Amino acid sequence: MKIKNIIGLCFLTFSSILIFSCENNVEEDTTAIVDPISAPTDPGNEIPDGENPDGETPDTPDPTPEPTVISFSADVKPIFDRNCTGCHGGNRFPDLRNINIIQANSGTIRNQVVTRRMPQGGSLSNEAIAIIRDWIDSGALNN
Ligand code: HEC
Repeated sequence: MKIKNIIGLCFLTFSSILIFSCENNVEEDTTAIVDPISAPTDPGNEIPDGENPDGETPDTPDPTPEPTVISFSADVKPIFDRNCTGCHGGNRFPDLRNINIIQANSGTIRNQVVTRRMPQGGSLSNEAIAIIRDWIDSGALNN
């Protein structure tokens, strides 16, 4: 009986050591797998980070042209309709309801708006002036 107990204890101890060592091996293997994965990721991030300052310089001008893409129908025409067509609605030159006439006289319109000579008797916000100016400067497109 005692011998069996000793053998049993030895077996249990031995197998628990095996299990423990196996668990350690698994953990070590997992760690070893994770490390090489995270290791190349870090230098991979460092390289773009180093390039970003250089990339920010060309990225910075990009947001600038985007606001200059101004829609005539969505942005400019509502300003003319609210502030100009009461006088320039067909009886007085230029007819600011007509895109062809607006395009043909865009230089004069730009000058009148930027210098705040127009709208006569009223005023435009700086934003509205900038919208008209930038739309004309980008070609006065019927967009
Ligand atoms: C209250 C009436 C009135 C409003 C509103 C008005 N105008 Fe005028 N506009 C005039 C009169 C009057 C003239 C002609 C006399 C003058 O040039 O001052 C004129 C002339 C012009 C001319 C021709 C200038 C030239 O050299 O022949 C342009 C371009 C013009 N307006 C653009 C605009 C624009 C753009 C708006 C809106 C942002 C506007 N106007 C709003 C009354 C108005």
